[in-house]
Formats: sequence, C-alpha cells, structure tokens
Amino acid sequence: MLIERPRRNRKSAWVRDAVRETWVAPRHFIYPLFIHDGSGDHDIGSMPGCARLSLDGLWREAEGALADGVGAIVLFPAVDESLKSPLGEESFNDEGLVQRAIRGLKQRFAELTVVTDVALDPYSADGHDGIVSADGRVLNDETVEVLRLQALSQARAGADIISPSDMMDGRVGAIREALDSDGFTEVSILAYTAKYASAFYGPFRDALDSAPKFGDKKTYQMDPGNGREALRETELDVSEGADMVMVKPAGPFLDVIRRVREATVLPVAAYQVSGEYAMLKAASQNGWLDERKTVLESLYGIRRAGADIILTYYARQAARWLSGAT
Ligand code: PBG
Repeated sequence: MLIERPRRNRKSAWVRDAVRETWVAPRHFIYPLFIHDGSGDHDIGSMPGCARLSLDGLWREAEGALADGVGAIVLFPAVDESLKSPLGEESFNDEGLVQRAIRGLKQRFAELTVVTDVALDPYSADGHDGIVSADGRVLNDETVEVLRLQALSQARAGADIISPSDMMDGRVGAIREALDSDGFTEVSILAYTAKYASAFYGPFRDALDSAPKFGDKKTYQMDPGNGREALRETELDVSEGADMVMVKPAGPFLDVIRRVREATVLPVAAYQVSGEYAMLKAASQNGWLDERKTVLESLYGIRRAGADIILTYYARQAARWLSGAT
C-alpha cells in the first residue's frame, strides 16, 4: 500500500525554501515611530528597544530604516501636556510636531513613504480618540469635523498615506471628500477598519502618555469577541473610498485578517501592536524565547493569515534578520 509521505517535501533546505507558500520581506513593513518635541531620545520602559525620538533622532532612524530596506514609517507624536485640549486643536496646527516631522522627512528622504495617524488621542485632554461631551460620551460627527482638518493639515505637510485610527463612523468618506476637494487626490487612505478595544495597546499609551483619563474605548473600538462585525466595517470603509484596510491587533486576530482578506480585493494591513512587541521582547530578554525565530514566525503567521502589509516595531530588526545580517 502506498504511504502518503508529506515529509519528502521537507527533507532539505532547498525543498523547504522552494515550496514555502508565504514570504516575508522588508517591503511588507511599515515602521511605527514615536516622536517628541524636545531634545534627546527617551527610552520607553514597556517597549525596550523603542524610544520617543527627537526630530534629529527621527531623521537618523528614518535613514537607518531606508538602509535596512524598510521604506515606510508611521508617526505617533507625544504631545506636550500644555498643548492638549478638549477639542484637540493642536492636531491641525500646520506648525505642529507631526507636520514639521513630515516636512523634514520629505525634504531629507524623497523616497521614504510617510504614513500619518489620524485620531485625537495624542492631542485630547481626555485621552480619547474623539471629542468628549459634558456627560462623558465620545461625539461622532463633531469629531469627524476635526479629523478632516487634521488629515488636511497632514496632507499639506506632505503625508503620503493618511491612516484614521479613531473608529468614528463615516470618517473615511469625510476625509476622502476633504482631501479631494482640496486637491489631494493622490494622498491615500489606509483605514483602521477592524480596530479592537484591546488591552494590547497598553505600552503604546505609556509611550505617548495617551491613556484615556476616564473609562475605556469600547463605545468606538470593536469588541474582541466579534468577527462578523469586521466584515461590516470593511464594507463601509471600502464604499467610503479606503485604499487599504487594516486589522489591529494582528496576533490575537489572525482569523479576522483572513476573513477581511477574503471579503475585499483591497490590500490588507495588520498591526502587530505594542503589547505584542512587549511580550516577544520580554520573553526574549529573559531567555525564554528565541527572539529572532519567534518574531519571524509571528510575521509569517500574519502574512499567512492574509496580510499584505505589516506594521511592526520589529520592522528594522526583522529586515536585518531576513537579509541574513545580524
Ligand atoms: C490611537 C492609536 C493607538 C494605537 C495606534 N493608534 C492606541 C489606542 O487606540 O488606544 C495602538 C498601537 C499600539 O499599541 O502599538 N488612536
């Protein structure tokens, strides 16, 4: 009797490489960077290896990323407490930190793709992604008006891809309309389509001091128990004009990545978030996991699930590992 022997296709490095179904390369990565308006780079306790960068630090890191083959970065600002307000007006200040960072990057590195985050949490005195009413509700349509201004200000500064992470209803269509009517028809929208109310964002909020001052984000971010609902969000973002859609976090939501992949022909991105980074980093630093192997395996898993693009704090490191360097 013929025995099926799948092991023959695993018997040598050559055959394993030749039949591998998924590949991961630096071109798939977007590298998230934290910036602040002071001097020096400040380590982030819960994200060893990541820092809040000064603008000089940002230029250095962007140059290094390009040298490693990572051609896209996404910016997150740590905004001075004195500039935070209930309406988050600093978000659309053309001389704000993010706007200056975009201009500086585009001047120095014409080939770098600059992605920006649209949401009010770094700018909000309440630490929420939207405007908060007197009775503590996050107001949808009023927030969308500010997000339009924020997106336009980022576009004027030279952003290539605008990425709304706020989860307000209707914001993708509103931002597309605002960009088009101001002539920014070439600026893309990467929508945070299925963004969950996740505890894995903890270290990110430490990095930016942006944790909500009260309550949580469950009235706008999705319930981690839901998968079907991601398809509804996908349908909406596609119909409102998104160029790419995103699932976030990545690791705990691989099934959602797969379902979104099958529901749209648009490119799908996935965000390996701060808490996923912190877990891999902490276990590696303790000697409990092999960092290189587990990180690459996590990235293969995200790509295998169906993501075209991965936002990951490991972007530079993984790019170096993949190229066979350290
Ligand atoms: C803010 C935003 C968050 C992240 C990206 N954009 C935090 C949040 O929604 O509270 C999280 C990224 C990460 O954890 O790495 N709108």
